[in-house]
Amino acid sequence: MSHLTDSPAWRALVAHQRELADVHMRTLFAHDPDRGARLRVQWGALLLDFAKNRVTDETMTLLYQLADARELRARIDGLFAGEHINHTEDRAVMHMALRNPVDQPAFVDGEDVMPAVRAELDHMARLSGRVRDGSWRGATGERITDVVNIGIGGSDLGPVMVCEALKPYQRPDLRVHFVSNVDGAHLGATIAHLDPATTLFIVASKTFTTRETLTNAHSARRWLLRGLSQHPAQLTVEAADATLVARHFVALSTNAAGVAAFGIDPANMLRFWDWVGGRYSLWSSIGLSIAIAVGMPQFEQLLAGGHDADTRFRSLPWHQNLPVILAMLGVWYHNFFHAESHAILPYDQSLHRFPAYFQQGDMESNGKRVDHDGEPITDYSTGPVVWGEPGTNGQHAFFQLLHQGTHLVPTDFLAPVESHYGEPDVGADHHAILLANCLAQTEALMRGKTSAEAQAELLASGLSATDVAALLPHKVFPGNRPSNTLLFPKLTPFELGRLIAVYEHKIFVQGSIWGVNSFDQWGVELGKQLANAILPEIQGDEVVSVMHDSSTAGLIAWIRGQRR
Ligand code: F6P
Repeated sequence: MSHLTDSPAWRALVAHQRELADVHMRTLFAHDPDRGARLRVQWGALLLDFAKNRVTDETMTLLYQLADARELRARIDGLFAGEHINHTEDRAVMHMALRNPVDQPAFVDGEDVMPAVRAELDHMARLSGRVRDGSWRGATGERITDVVNIGIGGSDLGPVMVCEALKPYQRPDLRVHFVSNVDGAHLGATIAHLDPATTLFIVASKTFTTRETLTNAHSARRWLLRGLSQHPAQLTVEAADATLVARHFVALSTNAAGVAAFGIDPANMLRFWDWVGGRYSLWSSIGLSIAIAVGMPQFEQLLAGGHDADTRFRSLPWHQNLPVILAMLGVWYHNFFHAESHAILPYDQSLHRFPAYFQQGDMESNGKRVDHDGEPITDYSTGPVVWGEPGTNGQHAFFQLLHQGTHLVPTDFLAPVESHYGEPDVGADHHAILLANCLAQTEALMRGKTSAEAQAELLASGLSATDVAALLPHKVFPGNRPSNTLLFPKLTPFELGRLIAVYEHKIFVQGSIWGVNSFDQWGVELGKQLANAILPEIQGDEVVSVMHDSSTAGLIAWIRGQRR
């Protein structure tokens, strides 16, 4: 494979970008009445309209040629074949096996992993079923009313995002909470209103070594044991710590020894495997909080939606391949228009954690500065900054910059055609207003408002010619700002699963184009190491290490002084 920027496909795109740089999408639409009908692709009930992009048919062809030049088909085959594509950790990347139908084999290192996957799903079904039907009893014999997932990063963001998205499928008598931050405010505020006798903690950590999670888990255990020892209701089991913990703690991890050392009964541990990356783990045992919240049948629907996306991603040609289209459009803007960020804008309040989830998914995956061979990447950039908030809230916050700022920010608008919430409590007009806003924003970003249009409006409002001239530059919208629109009928577990897997594969495709390992995350290590060194310096009285720079040393000294 030639170096990326030397490849003919890349050079062709550079030349093509020069031709298109000053072409407005208004012109593209005006000259091509079929554009809207043509630049769209449908996967089942999921529709992607990508007509509001600064592309022509030729652009898409050139982008697909770049995908071919980067041997994308072979990369996809290698991914699904369980090759160790995460080479810096010498691991396969096979989270797709977690959503594979159990009667279809999936191989990792020559072994069909499906029997083990099925066994864990069964364990998950039993455990979540017992919590949901009330047969899981706490130490006082009461049923569980509150479940607290303690985890961070991939052991938190996915389950939170899905549980928030699937609220309409949850029961009011079984609440799920999430604690991730080591800031005691997070755990403290969560447990403040809980009863230890009816609370179940899930300690979710792939490695079971993550400082934040273990600190929160130890504090939760202390709170539980103290609370039970003073509880007005009598214990129905012996008061031994191990017995009490067994009634109120489960663990999700790949590290059985770490779980045992913490004191969680191995019978209460759901496992998964090192071929499941942390940020791809919501499909695994890490999804236990989801299964408890919405029930195992709905969790299986989530998996089925993910599998649907896997099947299509593996087999469809690029022009019908939704993640490939999204990925290549992202490459187009990031590398050829130098757009530095990408906004994910769900027009669905239930998806309010979706952008945060894919912030980790994308930025931890493709925020890399060396290629597969460890060579520094100097002549193209990788991994945009991913951000976003739900609409319509974003419109009243940061959309000003999207419309009239100096940055080009490509956007994805996501919306369900129907809402779970409606009459009699919520008026039917809410969702129509939401959808109208969603489409209006994509149209406004594309069309903009010309100087002539703005001037005509200002004159019609009765302003003087002098006032019109002064205001006019502020009223112009340049437009030509790209967006994708993804519509689905309703946010069901199946549609959500498919949507998540689409974005996962998009990240994989972009990593393949950029030639980076999308599945390691060494960049999070240095901060952890330094925090371990600084912790005793903040806590203790010993001399602050001379290894620190004067700023850090000064800040440590300041904190020590204030804490005294
Ligand atoms: O610090 C980054 C990270 O390693 C993520 O990749 C991961 O999702 C998170 O920490 C949590 O890790 P664990 O599940 O092992 O506690």
